[in-house]
Order: sequence, then C-alpha cells, then structure tokens
Amino acid sequence: MKTTDLDRDAARRLVTETVTDPTFRRATFGGAIRGGGGSAWVRVVIRPIDLRGQPHLQFSYFDRTKCVTRNVSIRDAGPPLDEVLVLGFAGVHLSTQADEIDLRTSKKGKIHVGRRPAALEADEPARTHNRAKDVPLPEGRADRLLEALGILTADGQVRPTMRAKYTQINEFLKHLLHLLDDAGLRGLGRPVEILDCGCGSSYLTLAAHHYLNHVLDIPARITGVDVNDEVIRKSLQTADRAGAEGLAFACGQIGSIQAKPDVVLALHACDTATDDAIAQAVRGEARLLLSVPCCHHHLNQAIRPDGPAGVLRPILRHGILHQRTADLITDAFRALALRIMGYRTDVVEFVSPEHTARNLMIRAVRTAPAGEAAFVAEYRDLCRFWQVTPYIELALGEKFQTFLSQGDAS
Ligand SMILES: C[S@@+](CC[C@H](N)C(=O)[O-])C[C@H]1O[C@@H](n2cnc3c(N)ncnc32)[C@H](O)[C@@H]1O
Repeated sequence: MKTTDLDRDAARRLVTETVTDPTFRRATFGGAIRGGGGSAWVRVVIRPIDLRGQPHLQFSYFDRTKCVTRNVSIRDAGPPLDEVLVLGFAGVHLSTQADEIDLRTSKKGKIHVGRRPAALEADEPARTHNRAKDVPLPEGRADRLLEALGILTADGQVRPTMRAKYTQINEFLKHLLHLLDDAGLRGLGRPVEILDCGCGSSYLTLAAHHYLNHVLDIPARITGVDVNDEVIRKSLQTADRAGAEGLAFACGQIGSIQAKPDVVLALHACDTATDDAIAQAVRGEARLLLSVPCCHHHLNQAIRPDGPAGVLRPILRHGILHQRTADLITDAFRALALRIMGYRTDVVEFVSPEHTARNLMIRAVRTAPAGEAAFVAEYRDLCRFWQVTPYIELALGEKFQTFLSQGDAS
C-alpha cells in the first residue's frame, strides 16, 4: 500500500471528491479521535443509491442501538458530508471501482493516507458491483423497501437467509420490465393498473410497486388479493412500514374482485387458483399476464396410462414422473388456452431451480387473434389423448367453449 501524509484540508478534499465521483462505492467513517468532540455516532456509512433514476448518496448514521438514514442527491451532498467530516472520525475507508483508500488520524493529529488498487482485495465487492448493474434492485445499495421486507440490511447487504427471495424478486422484475415494454404499457398517460392474484405476504407485489413507481418512474397502482386474511393484514402492515402509496389489498377469492387491470400477476398461486387468475385476466382483457404456477393437483389426479396415453405407462408408474408429467401438461394446456383466447404466450424459466422448484413462468401478451382453428385443434387433440377436461377450460367458461365447439363444426 502506498502511503502519504495530508493536511486536514487536503484530506477533506480527497473525501469529498471521492464520494461524489461516479466510481464511488462506499465510505465508512469510524473510531474516535483523541481529544475529539465525542460524536453521538460511532460509525457513518455513505453509499451511492439510485432514487427515481437519479444518483443519490445514502448516509447511514449508527450509534450503539440504532441506525438513522438520510438520502441526498449528489448535488446536495456537500453540507451532510461536511457535517460528517467535522465529527472527526479517526478512520475513514473509501472504496471506488479502482481504489481502496484508508485515511488514519494519528494520536498526534497527523493524517496518513494509504491507497491500493481495488482488484487486489476487493474482488467480491467488485463482482457485486458488476452484478448490481445487471439487476433491477441491486445489492450493495440501501433500499428502503427491501429493508422493510427484511431482505437487505440498512447498508444494503442481502441477509443470508433472504438470498433466494432477493434473487426471485429481481428475476421477476426483469421479466416485468421486459414485458411492460412488449405490451406497450409504458407511457399510458395514467397509472398502470396491476392485480396480483394470491399475493400472499406481498414481497413481489411490494417490489413491483416500488420498482415501477420509485426506480423506473412508471406510475403504477397495485391491488393484491388473497383469500387468507392474515397475509392481507401483514401485507398492509409491511406496505405501511415501507411508506408505499397506491397499493390496495383485498381479502377474497381470485375472481371475486371486479377489476379491469392492465396487468394480472399470479405468482405461485396454488393449484387451480392459477387458472382462476388466468380467467380473470382474460375476462378483464388485461394486456399482460405473468404467472408462475405452483402445485398442480387437478390433472395429477386425472391423468391415467389408459387409451392413447397407455404408451406412457413406464413414465406414469413412478410417482414423481407422474407428478412432473401432470405439471407439464397442465401448463401446456394453460399456455394453449391463453393462445386461443388471443394472447401471444410463452413459457420460460423464471429463476434457476436452485432458488425454487416452481420455476416456470407463463408470460402472455394480448395481441394475437382469438379462436385460431389450428390452436383449437391442438387443444382438442391433447384433451383427447389424455382423456381429461383441464380446469382452465372450466375457468374460462362460455367464450372458450364457443371456440372449442367451432372446432366441432370443422
Ligand atoms: C404460495 S403463496 C404465494 C404468495 C406470493 N404470490 C408469492 O409468490 O410470494 C399462494 C397464495 O395464494 C393464496 N390463494 C390460493 N388460492 C387462492 C384463491 N383461490 N383466491 C385467493 N387467494 C388464493 C394463498 O392464500 C397464498 O397466500
């Protein structure tokens, strides 16, 4: 490490310039100076964050029991930075993309500065930074919502037990962003209306609301629906804690809410609740549906190695293969039914299976012509092969039946 001595003004300039530089990553101030004024704070951390797409600095002030945070735009960072410098901490550590810089004030009041390239020991934060650029809600930066959800610590670190949830949220937001563009839902001139069916504890609901409104500046209103009043109560509390506005929650069955949302979400909605959510999207002519199906019981009980499917006996005799086959068939029927109802539909991997076994996402954008004969024929053939009536058919009701019966005539 290269070391030099600086006078107090030069040290202040170094800190100010580093913290306001675009390559800045983190500053930590700690340790009392001998004969210093005795600050109430034992540590102050500064890190860059984005708020509404604009660069800001987050100041986190720690005493022995609590942490107080304050966000300021880079432009307004001078006064709070001066306040921290006046507190006179003995040790200051600055991280940038290129350097790790240490300022130490000795007992005699001399300021020694050491500098080394970041890559030598800061490999992990550097990778974090690279990763951070790729994800909607990056780690390493404080985020009020993720902190309220208990996913990030006050200074932006992912809590080890919440890593899978954090990954899931970011993957989901990537899909959402991509599909909002695809469905032409940016710049509507009014808030995007989103209905989250089976919202549960609302981690993904709140994350979507936060990302759209506060990071992307896309006005969005979200209603979360769940049949369980306990999770609705908790969701209301979390939304309140996070200071989220434009969010509503309703306790009830999917489909019981009279709504015409632009976007319907159904993330891990149990069994046929996914079909009910798909039906709600179709009925309300939602432009976009994102569904991550959960357990699939309905067809698991219905499929048998009989008739044409008898050839699949070697697969269906094993419980786990029977279950997985039922999962695949159920989601294939759903995707096909959506296509028949006028949605361009694909099925993709949502997150890597290491994060959740329920990792398929059905994505549907309302753009295609409804009732296309070729898809109706495929649907009918698949039903005939398996000798089943999928629940999606019942959920979609009369209009879907009309398309199927048109297939009878041809
Ligand atoms: C596994 S949780 C998923 C929560 C959240 N969407 C997520 O992905 O983290 C499924 C939720 O769907 C709710 N649910 C299941 N069937 C429902 C129905 N028919 N109507 C409303 N909510 C339902 C359950 O109460 C539960 O909270």
